[in-house]
Amino acid sequence: MTRFSTDSVHGHDYYDIETGSFKVPLYLSTVFEHPDRRTGEARKSDRGFEQKYSREENPTVRAFEKVIAKLEKGSQALGFNSGMGSIAAVYLSALSAGDRIIITKESYGTTQDLALNLAKFGIKTILAGPETEDFLEKIQPGVAMVLVETITNPQARVVDVRKIAKRCKETGTRLVVDNTFATPLLYKPLLDGAWLTLHSVTKYIGGHNDLIGGVLALNDPMDLIELWEFRRRLGSIMGPFEAFLALRGVSTLKVRFETQSKNALALAEFLQDHPKIEGVYYPGLKTSPYHKTARALFSVRLYGGLLSFKVKGGKKEALEVLRKVQVIKPSPSLGGTESLLNYPVTSASKTLSPVVRKELGIGDNLLRLALGLEDLEDLEDDLSQALSAI
Ligand SMILES: Cc1ncc(COP(=O)(O)O)c(C=O)c1O
Repeated sequence: MTRFSTDSVHGHDYYDIETGSFKVPLYLSTVFEHPDRRTGEARKSDRGFEQKYSREENPTVRAFEKVIAKLEKGSQALGFNSGMGSIAAVYLSALSAGDRIIITKESYGTTQDLALNLAKFGIKTILAGPETEDFLEKIQPGVAMVLVETITNPQARVVDVRKIAKRCKETGTRLVVDNTFATPLLYKPLLDGAWLTLHSVTKYIGGHNDLIGGVLALNDPMDLIELWEFRRRLGSIMGPFEAFLALRGVSTLKVRFETQSKNALALAEFLQDHPKIEGVYYPGLKTSPYHKTARALFSVRLYGGLLSFKVKGGKKEALEVLRKVQVIKPSPSLGGTESLLNYPVTSASKTLSPVVRKELGIGDNLLRLALGLEDLEDLEDDLSQALSAI
């Protein structure tokens, strides 16, 4: 069995016998010819789905899915046109009227917002966390699904997904793990019994801030068919060009993520000692309440490229830092080549209710920093000069 980086480079298994090319081509074709003109039978993809129309199956997307299935240790993966596209397909395929779903309180705002909107179809959303114990208490028989994020945003909390998976197994609950911020390099939820794992490919997997995409991976072949059908009905398959970019992105995931994680730890330590800083949130810090869980859960000694910090003062001071950074761009999203600084109250956490935001400590003086691939010294200099302005 080959290892992580080898799979991220070669996992698509593509080889063109005619040309000798081992790079996956960009198949822009909308349609594919029926090989059997007499019966009109469509060509089948390697997993048996009909390959006749690119809203259903596309060879470039399929190559990307193979890589993700290998990295996440699932038997199959499905690519989507956004992370939200994959989450919508999961909700629609697996939930019915009367179901209850538990979601991380500190989840991506739109993940939560979409679930709460399913109330009109008779689906009830219960918020849990941010600590593992709260999940363990709330997961009871009859709960249809639990959705957790391995590392949360913006406070970079880490829940014990292993314990949650065990509890879900006892109660017959499907566990969905949004593994966007950890990536399969740190953690592979399916190995601990999660039903399904998913990503906003837009972030670390794409890795260059130049595509929007989503992907999910799982093991159950029947559930895959259901999810595939919903992707087809919703028209939410990943675009072939995005799949092409994502294949290129994922092939360098390990080297990028290692650099981002190491630089994030160095900056977290730098900020921790800074006189203008009130608090730093990063699971790689030994002082973090999530350090022990992260160390036990993650398969390598890395803690991701996302940290947040509170500046001394309030909104005015936080926004001043945002205004003053130069190398670091004031922008949402993360996981690409550019370091991005963001104000969670008006960004990813905007759709959380003010009560939830307050409970989670997402206050007016909080900023989130997502590491790109610039030189560490330049990032440190940039933060220094921006902080000296307040
Ligand atoms: C953890 C997480 N999951 C899902 C999403 C949604 O992904 P997308 O923006 O690709 O739809 C995001 C977006 O920021 C996210 O942060």
